[in-house]
Amino acid sequence: LSGVPGFPLPSIHTQQAYDPAADFTSRWTRADALQIKAHSSTSVAVGQNSMPAQLTMPNIPADFPQTNPDVWIWDTWTLIDKHADQFSYNGWEVIFSLTADPNAGYTFDDRHVHARIGFFYRRAGIPASQRPVNGGWIYGGHLFPDGTSAQVFAGTTYTEQAEWSGSTRLVNVRGNTVSVFYTDLAFNRNPDASNITPPVAVITQTLGQIHADFRHVWFTGFGTHTPLLRPDGVYYQTGQQNEFYSFRDPFTFEDPQHPGVNYMVFEGNTAGDRGTPNCTEADLGYRPNDPHAETLQEVLDSGAYYQKANIGLAVAENGSLSKWKFLPPLISANCVNDQTERPQVYIKDGKYYIFTISHRTTYAAGVDGPDGVYGFVGNGIRSDFQPMNYGSGLVLGNPTDLNTAAGTDFDPNPDQNPRAFQSYSHYIMPGGLVESFIDTVEGRRGGALSPTVRVKIAKSASVVDLRYGNGGLGAYGDIPANRADINIAGF
Ligand code: FRU
Repeated sequence: LSGVPGFPLPSIHTQQAYDPAADFTSRWTRADALQIKAHSSTSVAVGQNSMPAQLTMPNIPADFPQTNPDVWIWDTWTLIDKHADQFSYNGWEVIFSLTADPNAGYTFDDRHVHARIGFFYRRAGIPASQRPVNGGWIYGGHLFPDGTSAQVFAGTTYTEQAEWSGSTRLVNVRGNTVSVFYTDLAFNRNPDASNITPPVAVITQTLGQIHADFRHVWFTGFGTHTPLLRPDGVYYQTGQQNEFYSFRDPFTFEDPQHPGVNYMVFEGNTAGDRGTPNCTEADLGYRPNDPHAETLQEVLDSGAYYQKANIGLAVAENGSLSKWKFLPPLISANCVNDQTERPQVYIKDGKYYIFTISHRTTYAAGVDGPDGVYGFVGNGIRSDFQPMNYGSGLVLGNPTDLNTAAGTDFDPNPDQNPRAFQSYSHYIMPGGLVESFIDTVEGRRGGALSPTVRVKIAKSASVVDLRYGNGGLGAYGDIPANRADINIAGF
């Protein structure tokens, strides 16, 4: 491995698998993340894309269609089984999205504290070319009966309560019971949005039934919401340790290497009080005598220790997936990045991939990368994960000029690429199809489903498939099932 002149080499990661319960957390190191900058061009015109084209999501047109003008939608997921295959139900494709009301008097950026899980459906098996340009999703409304997700916070003080991301599992592909794993949130905030007390995030399960006839899809149940996990402060940071902690986005699966055992990955932060300057040489990850290595003191002096994301793991303790136990985190990003969101497990050719989404603005001082998808590969669910693509971790970023300050989606830097926040919350589907939502394109806000794109994944590398769709952009909201349920009695 020769590396990029002027940059350190990435850390060595063997991909070796460990027992899922082992006390081994792999690290996305600073040496790894610096490979992103190493592969960013310093000679592009201001505001262009400085990242390699094969790791960049193609440009979303500014005249994108709304998925539904009456509802903002962002994080979206599918109806999956224990292996993350995507099922249609009685001839309908179904998706679940965080939603908010665009006509309720708050802005798109204030949507998070109002988030409710909604669902959409459309006929399965119709080619994208024969669907409406916006994907043709029919809005089915909120998934849970009003007030039910608030049960978890009964008797506590809060000012807003919301439903954040998760996943939906078909309990049995012959039946119609679905298990929704999601993040139940209670906020206790001042009118200026500062916290009176830290938000309370609880990974929660609720069971319901899916139904469909020739006309529509609907759900019953979801009357009981069972709290599963609250951060323990030992592996996973609590609100008391850091009011800006992350603890959310459960995704469950059965591990083929451990038949019958169910695991959950989720977004967390490394436990401990915020602002404790305790990253280690191992978090930096430089090879001995690398001439481009930073010293630990330099990194600590930069304040990089405020950013300590992790990807958590829990194991189910019963068959109904209503009891879970924390295991040590799978991956930490101490002094690298503060958010590794919506993690998912994707198995291909015997390799275990952890895909996660992250932001440019959550990187620690001295490291950088675009908003988008990051990926890590190993030989099992707990591995010495190797960050994909030159050891960097970057898989699919928004078009971004890393030489120019980020700005934000709500306050863009006019010199930044106007698509640096075009999409977020990507989820990788069977066949490498990637769905996400549109945030901001040339200043136009979204709240709609992005065009689906495709990544080709081979070992520790990936490339965006520019032959998919139109120059790499598939249809808007093209989120197809790859399996039909076998309970098609209604048809
Ligand atoms: C990603 C995310 C998730 C969270 C949701 C809240 O877009 O930050 O981690 O569940 O948005 O809106």
